[in-house]
Amino acid sequence: MLTGHGGNVHFWASVLGCLPQDIVDMSSNVNPLGPMEGLLDFLRERMDAIAALPQADASDVVRRFGVRYGIDSERVLIGNGTTHFIHALPGVLGTKRALVFGPTYSDYADAFLQHGAAVVHRIAGPDDHFRQRLDELSGDERDCDTIVICNPNNPTGGRIERSVLEAFCKRHPERFVVIDESYLPFSDAEMETTLLYGDLPNVMVLHSMSKMFRIPGLRIGFAMTSNDRIRRRFRDIQQPWSVNALAQEAARFLLDPDRPTDAFVAETRRYLNHERRRMTDELARISGLKIYPSETSFLLLRLPKGVDGATLVEESVRTHRILLRDCSNFVGLDERYMRISLKTPDANRRITRWLCDRLGAGQEDPPKTPTGCS
Ligand SMILES: Cc1ncc(COP(=O)(O)O)c(C=O)c1O
Repeated sequence: MLTGHGGNVHFWASVLGCLPQDIVDMSSNVNPLGPMEGLLDFLRERMDAIAALPQADASDVVRRFGVRYGIDSERVLIGNGTTHFIHALPGVLGTKRALVFGPTYSDYADAFLQHGAAVVHRIAGPDDHFRQRLDELSGDERDCDTIVICNPNNPTGGRIERSVLEAFCKRHPERFVVIDESYLPFSDAEMETTLLYGDLPNVMVLHSMSKMFRIPGLRIGFAMTSNDRIRRRFRDIQQPWSVNALAQEAARFLLDPDRPTDAFVAETRRYLNHERRRMTDELARISGLKIYPSETSFLLLRLPKGVDGATLVEESVRTHRILLRDCSNFVGLDERYMRISLKTPDANRRITRWLCDRLGAGQEDPPKTPTGCS
């Protein structure tokens, strides 16, 4: 539960005898350009907010979220990160058996199992870029009452079209479908993909502020559903002040129509599109390495045969203080998978060069004796 996440920069800082901020954390999927300019100064000025209780239900922030996205704020819930909802969902929905489309973020399965629900994984394969086929349910899948789909998915980075998702949700009105859009703001196709504007009563959309705005330490997440009954149940169990005072201040800043939030998002997408392309082109020189197409802030790699992700992660953090993500603990992946979250151009270049050297990338000619490849 507490250990299935990124590369644990705190652990490596203690091993290396340095501060966590001395390590370039390429295991964490947050926006390399964030936090947005002006936010930290704004929060410094608002520090005294911690000396008083914030709004118990953060309803002002919820209202602003509704205004920013043009949706009825009655349909919006706010929580302590989307994690708040992930862990409340099994209880609120009364899930008996969940279907999780993977390989994906492990907290969903952990949360269901913790609540005593069974979990069925539908694992997409590497040959088709881990693309999810939202076709008919079969076998154990048919007994599932709750379904989870991350769009785009972590760690694979792929996105599913809205029409495909909507058709799937409509085909299963008796099942509740959770669509996690934590990484969707990184995609140019956000607006044509999001289900935030949908009306289907069996759907809940999760939306995180942690990733795009690089404020994972503040813990702000939203959930949207048109289902009154489910919203009421969430509100009935919601703890007061679950979104703290500084988090509420930050959300007000980011949702303020007079702040350049849209420009920041657009600049982030431009930067990531450029860096992803550059890194993909360079890494493609490594024979036997597979890079999966991504619309997010990270790239999933399958290493050449015989190369183990955990070994590379350890080498890179020890020699370069760059922490990558070994993906062997994702259900459906193995020790050959590794995820790189994009950071500054310098860090991106350092890690691609190191991987090219370490794994024997060809220059003009393919390498004669590629180290670590078989
Ligand atoms: C797919 C996915 N959903 C949700 C979360 C949790 O995000 P939050 O900070 O909003 O709780 C993560 C974190 O890595 C994630 O990868």
